[in-house]
Amino acid sequence: MLTILTGIKATGRPHLGNIIGVIKHAIKLSKNNNSLFFIADLHSLTTIKKINYSQNNIFEIAATWLSFGLNDNKTIFYRQSKIPEVCELSWYLNCLTPYPMLKNAHAFKKEKEKLFKINIGLFTYPILMASDILLYNANIIPIGKDQLQHLEITQSVAKTFNKVYGKTFNIPISKLNKKKEIIPGIDGKKMSKSYDNTIDIFLSKKLLKKQIMNIKTNSIPILKTKNPNECNVFKLHKALSDKKKSNIMHKRYIKGDYGYNSAKKLLYELILKKFNKERILFQKYIKNIKIIKIKLKNGERKAKKIAFNNIKKIKSNMNIN
Ligand code: TRP
Repeated sequence: MLTILTGIKATGRPHLGNIIGVIKHAIKLSKNNNSLFFIADLHSLTTIKKINYSQNNIFEIAATWLSFGLNDNKTIFYRQSKIPEVCELSWYLNCLTPYPMLKNAHAFKKEKEKLFKINIGLFTYPILMASDILLYNANIIPIGKDQLQHLEITQSVAKTFNKVYGKTFNIPISKLNKKKEIIPGIDGKKMSKSYDNTIDIFLSKKLLKKQIMNIKTNSIPILKTKNPNECNVFKLHKALSDKKKSNIMHKRYIKGDYGYNSAKKLLYELILKKFNKERILFQKYIKNIKIIKIKLKNGERKAKKIAFNNIKKIKSNMNIN
């Protein structure tokens, strides 16, 4: 059996892009494999210093996973920070990582002009991510496209470790959700918290509607563009619906018998209907943090066991036991 592993950084409530791109995909893969899903609260420390805020994020992320059907009896579900072996491994891996490899990592490169503002945590972020994966000897990593470079770094570091200290780690591979690769944000760019263009399916109906009505559309009316595939509303609708519904909307666009507002309303209704169950469950979990804590603690016990054994093996291969 293979081991599936993925994490979500604790910087905010997961948005529609996270949910379609990673969460739903990972849960599907977990059905026939071993799985570990975690909340990357250590990674969020590169940007977040307000612990209360971050605690809140942790529970919202956990509630999202659970609402979408994570089965915590089968999947090991945990907070990254509760298994400190990951930090220990990350030091060993740091010492095998060539400086230029991290210097060229995109998250760091992006900040190159204002180096005085960033911390070493951001620089070595990909190595902590490699440790997340290698500590549990995971095989398959469901991620979004933006994380592919980090996975390549993980593979490279794992290979180096194996060469230097003898075969210790599996070489993990990434898994993109091919069918739903790109979820556009409300401005048409890739949906991402850093672009401030996300759709939050757990908002109240009123706020959710406002978010949908704010989707940027063409200044030329539907009737004239005749090209649904260029429209953000259509693209989002297509990503969430089945072929039949999407074809109906396509026809309407081409016929031009309705405007962007009608399309947005349909998208809003689709989201409400499609995620009705998850919206209810999310509220249930958020009102009952105690249950979330019990589930996480249970997962942490299991994760700890694996980490404890694996770090022992790793250190023994390094001759530092
Ligand atoms: N860096 C990932 C993100 O921002 C989160 C993450 C941390 C992760 N460790 C991981 C994802 C290990 C997959 C595997 O989305």
